[in-house]
Amino acid sequence: MTTFSKKIVLVTGAASGIGAATATAFAREGATVLCADINLEAASRLASQLSLEGVNAHAIELNVASESAWNKASEHIRTTYSRLDVLVNNAGISFGKPLLDMTLAEWQRVMQVNCDGVMLGTQAAFRLMFPQNSGVIINIASASGIKPVAGASAYCTSKAGAIMLTKAAALEAAPHKVRVNAIAPSGVTTPMWESMEFFQGMIAEAGSKEAAYKALAVGVPLGRYATPEEIAEAVLYLASPKAGFITGAVLNVDGAYTL
Ligand SMILES: NC(=O)c1ccc[n+]([C@@H]2O[C@H](COP(=O)([O-])OP(=O)(O)OC[C@H]3O[C@@H](n4cnc5c(N)ncnc54)[C@H](O)[C@@H]3O)[C@@H](O)[C@H]2O)c1
Repeated sequence: MTTFSKKIVLVTGAASGIGAATATAFAREGATVLCADINLEAASRLASQLSLEGVNAHAIELNVASESAWNKASEHIRTTYSRLDVLVNNAGISFGKPLLDMTLAEWQRVMQVNCDGVMLGTQAAFRLMFPQNSGVIINIASASGIKPVAGASAYCTSKAGAIMLTKAAALEAAPHKVRVNAIAPSGVTTPMWESMEFFQGMIAEAGSKEAAYKALAVGVPLGRYATPEEIAEAVLYLASPKAGFITGAVLNVDGAYTL
């Protein structure tokens, strides 16, 4: 018997980075994992790889910013599993541009995915979890929602929003025995960075991806970025009965970056 056997877990943005590591960790701990992503092809690849290990993982297509997509996913969960034990609101996009150069549409896109996506996921989970009188929601926020970064106002604001939403949602969920927490990582070595032009420039300058990450981590007292697996460990802890009295909390998994 593993910690999450018989549990139904939905991870958004599961096709890459922190989401993929989290989905993998839950599946290996016995959960039935729904790997949800806007990129169905990549989510299906992960689910197939995990299935080869003999664990339970299934891909579903989900754009977290779309209310109708959430309704469809919820209906699928209700009819197939009749319950939801854990939701990890992980899907997110990064965006950097000075305020004076940013368009309203760019700002709104970041809010739609990073803030509206968490709100819609929370609503969908509440509808499934409140009648069961159990459940856990974990939102992947960011240290940037606590400590501002120049040139990343939209991202920082969206993550600060996700943090306050976590706290307000925790109060509404508590009478239903549902816990809601957030994790605030500083830098994590994921494809999110590797897709950015400036980071490719840093790799070229520093000579390797590892050296570029080391250069990025100068502001992190522990002197490095986290691995996606380290964030997944924190998610599993918050989702487990060991964290049964923790709700409305923000767990900084940031190598002391925000101190
Ligand atoms: N990488 C970091 O340094 C870091 C630090 C702090 C917080 N975070 C947060 O962690 C989360 C995961 O980041 P990551 O680094 O693993 O990113 P990533 O880019 O590696 O993966 C993000 C995944 O989300 C999916 N996605 C994007 N938009 C979506 C949408 N609208 N609906 C559904 N899926 C969508 C992508 O297809 C991708 O599979 C994000 O919320 C990010 O803001 C990342």
